[in-house]
Amino acid sequence: MSFVSCTCESLLEGGRKDVLVLTPWLAPTVWEGTFNIDILNEQLRLRNTTIGLTVFAIKKYVAFLELFLQTAEKHVMVGHKVSYHVFTDRAGDVPRAPLGEGRQGVVLEVRSYWRWQDVSTHRMEMIRRFLHEVDYLVCADVDMRFRDHVGVEILSPLFGTLHPGFYGVAREAFTYERRPQSQAHVPRDEGDFYYAGGFCGGSVAEVLRLTSACHQATVVDRAHGIEAVWHDESHLNRYLLDHKPTKVLSPEYLWDEQLLGWPAVVRKLRYVTVPKSHQGIRD
Ligand code: UDP
Ligand code: GAL
Ligand code: MN
Repeated sequence: MSFVSCTCESLLEGGRKDVLVLTPWLAPTVWEGTFNIDILNEQLRLRNTTIGLTVFAIKKYVAFLELFLQTAEKHVMVGHKVSYHVFTDRAGDVPRAPLGEGRQGVVLEVRSYWRWQDVSTHRMEMIRRFLHEVDYLVCADVDMRFRDHVGVEILSPLFGTLHPGFYGVAREAFTYERRPQSQAHVPRDEGDFYYAGGFCGGSVAEVLRLTSACHQATVVDRAHGIEAVWHDESHLNRYLLDHKPTKVLSPEYLWDEQLLGWPAVVRKLRYVTVPKSHQGIRD
């Protein structure tokens, strides 16, 4: 038997007093300065954890894949087993750059939809249909790049990311779906956080529950002739209100520098939007 030599001082050093680090349901909120990556890496390696990163690149969005994959190779879960799941209707256009050790890519051919809103929403349905042999799934937008560490500190049975536009904003101002006719609706006096649709995940079992519920909700909405204001993001927000995430990622994990600059509270910009011309890319 041996003891790891680590004094209390060194473990408790630093910390964050300027941000919320624990939700009222006692889930950690992940900010730079709240975790020790060496301890977490060791834990995950001992369990031989495999992480699936799902990303959709339908129609013109295949153009975003190269930078997404290149930067993910540099910053995402380096040293762990990672499997990229690329969902696309243009398999021939998927860049085939060599991947790092322990990392692999799987290209899944799926249909496209005419409307970009439907492409975005149908991710919930398609992720369910192609769950592979991994322990955790991380579901990410493709019109983004990684620019700093995104590691195993994000992993948990169910995690969501604080939308960068609504951190610290009163919940009445969140852009939840408000029409009671929609399955996604959240009354003005309810809601914990406004989560971003572009980065969420969890264990395979939990992501299956999440995507099934959100898909079902969109089917019911469609039957009632209604589409939630922010599509899959609205349904994700309703789901995470009812099923509290076990970890909440700070907006470091989804940021838009063009829109929001770089405030001091966000010490690292880890996953950031790539500017796009909405008209040019979505038609
Ligand atoms: N998407 C796609 N092709 C499209 C529209 C959307 O592949 O024609 C996927 C892509 O992964 C994208 C995500 O759906 O990142 C969400 O759409 P978008 O990023 O345009 O939404 P925004 O983040 O601007 O709300
Ligand atoms: C925008 C973002 C949209 C949606 C919206 C919610 O900044 O581009 O995708 O998340 O916020 O209000
Ligand atoms: Mn996006």
